[in-house]
Amino acid sequence: MSHSNPPRPKRFSATGPLTGRIAVPGDKSISHRSLMLGALAVGETRISGLLEGEDVLATAAAMRAMGASIARGDDGIWSVNGVGVGSLLQPQGALDMGNSGTSTRLLMGLVASHPIHTVFTGDASLSGRPMGRVIEPLSLMGASFEASTGGTLPLMLRGISPAVPIRYRLPVASAQVKSAVLLAGLNTAGITTIIEPVPTRDHSERMLRGFGANLEVGMENGERVIAIHGEAELRPQTITVPGDPSSAAFFVVAALLVPGSDLLITNVGLNPTRAALFDVLRDMGGKIEEQKRREVGGEPVADLRVRHSALTGVEVDPAVAPAMIDEFPVLFVAASLAQGTTTTSGLDELRVKESDRLAAMAAALQLAGANIEEREDGLVIHGTGGDALPGTPRDTGVVTHLDHRIAMSMAIAGLASRNGVEVDDTTPIATSFPTFITLLGDAAA
Ligand code: S3P
Repeated sequence: MSHSNPPRPKRFSATGPLTGRIAVPGDKSISHRSLMLGALAVGETRISGLLEGEDVLATAAAMRAMGASIARGDDGIWSVNGVGVGSLLQPQGALDMGNSGTSTRLLMGLVASHPIHTVFTGDASLSGRPMGRVIEPLSLMGASFEASTGGTLPLMLRGISPAVPIRYRLPVASAQVKSAVLLAGLNTAGITTIIEPVPTRDHSERMLRGFGANLEVGMENGERVIAIHGEAELRPQTITVPGDPSSAAFFVVAALLVPGSDLLITNVGLNPTRAALFDVLRDMGGKIEEQKRREVGGEPVADLRVRHSALTGVEVDPAVAPAMIDEFPVLFVAASLAQGTTTTSGLDELRVKESDRLAAMAAALQLAGANIEEREDGLVIHGTGGDALPGTPRDTGVVTHLDHRIAMSMAIAGLASRNGVEVDDTTPIATSFPTFITLLGDAAA
């Protein structure tokens, strides 16, 4: 799980048009939550379309270590038999979270209100990421921590029961912090309240309700307020996970950039707290058409028909950042090929993702011949006006820093380059999108 595998470099080069129809794997955020909530419901939760990427498998392993039975059927449907809220067992060893910030932060919340202690470890990327943002509210609820210097992994968390319900205003726009506190609130008597000045992805709220938790969402002075009533009893569910818009994003940009492309991406989740990239790309002139809009598992879903388009640079409103926070790396690739300048700002959070995504993408795109200015809180990109990027020099790969989205974004840049783009390591792609390279081959066949 922790990427001890040797790096696997690969050169991505121009292909024919992307055509036909593809389906991307299940949503990562919803997959994690399905396993966690299933593990807290007494009885059998059945999940179809679960993302079988390393990050989600790390969550599955952790929930097993704390007492849940989790198995994949031959039909691809996952079955989870949970232990009940308040009944997580003391894990015998450390929980290896691999590369997954979502597993770590959400599970820290879950165990914080259980009377167990848990050690969290992770790979080099995860071990550099800030956990203070969850340590702070969970400490207010009564949990205690021994973290590495700087509030990072490895860390030990001593949970507490009964925990203290809190009213907490999110200092950063983070669905992971929000979810950690809500999950801690599940086993906390009384009402735990989160105030969210800037809305972030709301899968936790939707799914907690779906599992039968008593959760209220309202607005106070223009801010979202989410209240969860504790000592909840969750009921097992049958869940269908929609396709991940963050994975679809790579194919959307690829089809926009490669001349002649006309690609149908089926079953893409379009929760408004996730889908801002598609609006920004449409503003740039991208031909992205929604077909068969419907609901899957309580989430809006559609098929996306994407055709090659001439793109124009835009100024991206920082207010939409949380609704496309994982999509900026691939937006930077699209902007590098657009006519004119694209300006992004308010993206400080990108510096604490699986890598510093502003620095990593600026360096990678510059190596591929794009014209990029890196600022403190965003990138300014002067596009080629549709001309292919030169590509990376022979034998010099862009550095992915154990970050799946840097690897996949630069793979897409390779499709729009004259000499190809060498990616130093494709192994991190398996954390969120194990079928990425195969699907790219299928779409461009
Ligand atoms: C996620 C929230 C986001 C996102 C991550 C998944 C989630 O992180 O970047 O990939 O599932 O809650 P932040 O909450 O740190 O913004």
